[in-house]
Amino acid sequence: MGKVISICISKGGVGKTTTAVNLAASLSLSEKKTLLVDVDPYGSSAVAMGFTPDRIKGGISDIFNFSKSVEYTIHNTEIPYLDFIPANINSIQNDEKFAKMTENRVVLKNALKDVRNKYDFVILDCPPTLRGITLNALTASDSVLIPVKSGHFSLEAVDKLFDYISWVREVSNPYLDIEGILLTMYEQNSKVTEISERELRLKYEGYLLNTTIPITNLLNEATFYGKPLCLYRINSEGALAYMDLAYEIINKNKVTANNQA
Ligand SMILES: Nc1ncnc2c1ncn2[C@@H]1O[C@H](COP(=O)(O)OP(=O)(O)O)[C@@H](O)[C@H]1O
Ligand SMILES: [Mg+2]
Repeated sequence: MGKVISICISKGGVGKTTTAVNLAASLSLSEKKTLLVDVDPYGSSAVAMGFTPDRIKGGISDIFNFSKSVEYTIHNTEIPYLDFIPANINSIQNDEKFAKMTENRVVLKNALKDVRNKYDFVILDCPPTLRGITLNALTASDSVLIPVKSGHFSLEAVDKLFDYISWVREVSNPYLDIEGILLTMYEQNSKVTEISERELRLKYEGYLLNTTIPITNLLNEATFYGKPLCLYRINSEGALAYMDLAYEIINKNKVTANNQA
């Protein structure tokens, strides 16, 4: 059964979508069958994956209004092991209707039940808000991967997410685990990075992943070409960092699976 991981924190511009897209692509290049789901109504994953509206035959809004089967909303991608469900909420009216539909927190969990056994990993790219669709995502997930923008991060947002995860465990998903905190846009040898990291380590040492993602324009550039960085510049520092992250997560979950066996 595939492991469902939400990429989540209630802050925009910290690398959630970049991490969702590049982690999903790197997992699939490691021959792990992966499903990327764009759970953010804004639809940035579709842009980063090169899916223009004319290529989208259905998506997350069809899942929430039960108008199409989940299978129908799954799109193949350039990478054989990677499938994609886009967000297709393309007007403000739809956005409001959609917010109402997400009040039922188990819709996504039930939808994924039908398909998750076909995958090793299901990666959910969450919006920068909590509640609504994010609550659906966390209810459907086994774990949360928390991207934190190195240097200018907000410890408050991390605290808030940890509180929220505790609440989700109480009300709708007692098994929700924390995959780890990922430092994104990492600047080595910077004083700001060093000071802020110290603060984060003090409080969340055990949760920090070994991999860090360097700050690199290529991650942004690849988005313009609608490609994960590993399909654009496989040997770049950013692409290799996301490959490292994929290995770290694969290995971590091997260990967990062995422990449970
Ligand atoms: N490691 C990185 N180095 C440089 N730019 C990055 C990096 N990660 C993300 N970005 C850029 O930062 C912006 C915000 O990233 P994004 O992944 O969309 O964040 P979120 O989904 O949290 O809003 C985008 O323009 C993206 O290309
Ligand atoms: Mg995003």
